[in-house]
Amino acid sequence: MPSANPIAVITGASSGIGAVYADRLAARGYDLVLVARRIDRLRMLAETLSAAHNVEVQAIEADLTDETGLARVEQLLRSDERIALLVNNAGNGKLSGTLDMSDADTASTIALNLVAPTRLARAVLPAFVKRNAGAIINIASVMALHALPITTLYSATKSYVVMFSRGLQGELQGTGVRVQVVLPAATVTEFYDQAGLPLSALDPAVVMTAENLVDAALAGFDAGEAVTLPSVHDAQLWTAYDDAQDALFGATQVGSPAPRYAPAV
Ligand SMILES: NC(=O)c1ccc[n+]([C@@H]2O[C@H](COP(=O)([O-])OP(=O)(O)OC[C@H]3O[C@@H](n4cnc5c(N)ncnc54)[C@H](OP(=O)(O)O)[C@@H]3O)[C@@H](O)[C@H]2O)c1
Repeated sequence: MPSANPIAVITGASSGIGAVYADRLAARGYDLVLVARRIDRLRMLAETLSAAHNVEVQAIEADLTDETGLARVEQLLRSDERIALLVNNAGNGKLSGTLDMSDADTASTIALNLVAPTRLARAVLPAFVKRNAGAIINIASVMALHALPITTLYSATKSYVVMFSRGLQGELQGTGVRVQVVLPAATVTEFYDQAGLPLSALDPAVVMTAENLVDAALAGFDAGEAVTLPSVHDAQLWTAYDDAQDALFGATQVGSPAPRYAPAV
């Protein structure tokens, strides 16, 4: 008999945060579609999770920086009515100054962190809106709030993920479709291998396990949070930050230059 479970599509599920989402969502009874380039890893994870949780798991090999790979996942998102959750998790980022970064790395980070989640959200949303149900979880980063000299491009792309998510939340207000944006701080994954900065260079006190990160992010999801900062203990800090942004935007809506910019006489 065909499965009646809802399906979660997780990009970047071959390691780290995405692999933990796969485990936790399988435990919640989702069938899974796992997307990444390392198909052997996806197949191993698919076998483990389908046996452990009695769910169907499909592995899809796709390079999301490549038109063919991205179009393949878009097509899947448009065509399967059982898809109830998209986790836009795949991401990369060489940690280096803008001028030291190669053209290829620059293009790949923009394609993976910015273009792919945008196109995948656009592919799945029409069906969600039609059914008035479904959710997208976008994985951003706390670096969206903080640009260091070696994170310029990475911070900019993750800042986009936050704004894209915030905008979608506004568009979908009053519907049954949800968007959560998660901003992890340093998390133990293979991210640092490709970033060119060893994880050992970070203060262990600021690094979280991927399991703790995902469990906290899903607790935020269950609580209906729009923005989840798993490592921020004082939730009021986000509210104050968000309110300050609203106040600043409001202060721009006056139609005249501020007196400090008045021409000198
Ligand atoms: N670790 C941290 O400290 C941290 C902090 C904040 C935010 N994040 C974000 O968390 C997300 C997950 O990263 P992670 O920490 O779990 O790192 P990770 O272990 O390196 O996982 C990255 C995942 O993205 C996939 N991926 C990379 N390039 C891809 C491509 N071109 N096409 C398709 N998939 C691709 C990788 O699979 P393949 O290589 O098999 O394709 C892998 O499954 C990223 O968006 C990252 O920016 C991480």
